[in-house]
Amino acid sequence: MIKKYIMTPGPTAISEEVLLEHARPLMHHRSPEFSKIFIEVTEKLKKLFKTQNDVFILTSSGTGAMEAGVVNFFSTGDKVLVASIGNFGERFKKICTRYGLNVIALDYEWGDTANPDDIKNALDNNPDIKGVLLQFSETSTGAINDIETIGNIVKNYPAILIVDAISGLGASNLETDNWGLDVVIGGSQKALSAPTGAAFISVSEKAWKLNESANLPRFYFDLGTARSYAQKTPPQTPWTPGISIIVAMNKALDMMFDEGLEKVFERHRVLSLAVQRAIEKMGLEPLVKDKSKRGFSVTSIEVPEGIEAKDITKIMRVKYGVTIAGGQGKLTGKIIRIGNLGYCGIFDIIVAISALEITLKELGYEFEAGSGITEVEKTFIENNYLNS
Ligand SMILES: Cc1ncc(COP(=O)(O)O)c(C=O)c1O
Repeated sequence: MIKKYIMTPGPTAISEEVLLEHARPLMHHRSPEFSKIFIEVTEKLKKLFKTQNDVFILTSSGTGAMEAGVVNFFSTGDKVLVASIGNFGERFKKICTRYGLNVIALDYEWGDTANPDDIKNALDNNPDIKGVLLQFSETSTGAINDIETIGNIVKNYPAILIVDAISGLGASNLETDNWGLDVVIGGSQKALSAPTGAAFISVSEKAWKLNESANLPRFYFDLGTARSYAQKTPPQTPWTPGISIIVAMNKALDMMFDEGLEKVFERHRVLSLAVQRAIEKMGLEPLVKDKSKRGFSVTSIEVPEGIEAKDITKIMRVKYGVTIAGGQGKLTGKIIRIGNLGYCGIFDIIVAISALEITLKELGYEFEAGSGITEVEKTFIENNYLNS
């Protein structure tokens, strides 16, 4: 028997409490029983997004909500600015290009973040830009964009700001209304630690204005239709939603608010710091060099010379039951990633680092055995994590 641990940046481990909710007998999506839960979950998501804007739950993975964020606000040939700091920035470019938008790309090194001044300059030089699209936490690298500063810039221009917060929401503080974020996207399988298959999207008044003239084709992801159903009494979704996922999300959100959002963010901060400190102690290199640019969701680690990334992930998974992630896109084979999102605590980090240490020893990498896990413990003690 091998006990299994999922330490990827999504999907994340799910608590027993949430799994039990997910296993409840199915209720009908137009029943009063489900309506009550649907209303509650929508309100709790607004609290998590820190917004008074509309928030819709879509039955899709996060990419569906990224697509919804494009097709609902733009028309063929519209100019959009995509700031790409990794694989998911590239995905935004692909979606926009596929729908015939005129994409201006601001490309950064993978491991770096978007420079807010570049966004301001692009908006000054292209007053016809209709939208700015980028990630909050870029899961393929672990870097986090300064969305607060970027939001405060974009709100002075006609363009709307669309933020893919799929892996950052619930791990790091994000303030949709205070920061002027027009469209924010989240997913069920990241910091919420709920089952996969639901995505969320918020829409500001400024974005609804653009929606009035947006002519890109859309049907399933038409947020106008979602809004008309949300305005019914009781509120509903136009199509059959992922009922059991929403029921599970209700519990997952309660658990976050019971812990307290500030404490949830602090937990993510300390857990990711522990991973970073541990791997540096072991002589490994983090991909994101600038500490201030590291998010709290996932740590990307460069694979040492002479060792194959796929050997590390395979041995950890098959022999020790610990699933971590490899690199994506052009970082495939170059990095490994350890996630600390959602239902994850100090001993999960110790298990992951311990499994990494044993695996690297087996692969011939030289370092002092135990140095990583000792650093994890030190991080927790120094940050008073064990008493919080
Ligand atoms: C930042 C970011 N954007 C988009 C996605 C895509 O989400 P999904 O795989 O749920 O479609 C992910 C998933 O890892 C992500 O982390």
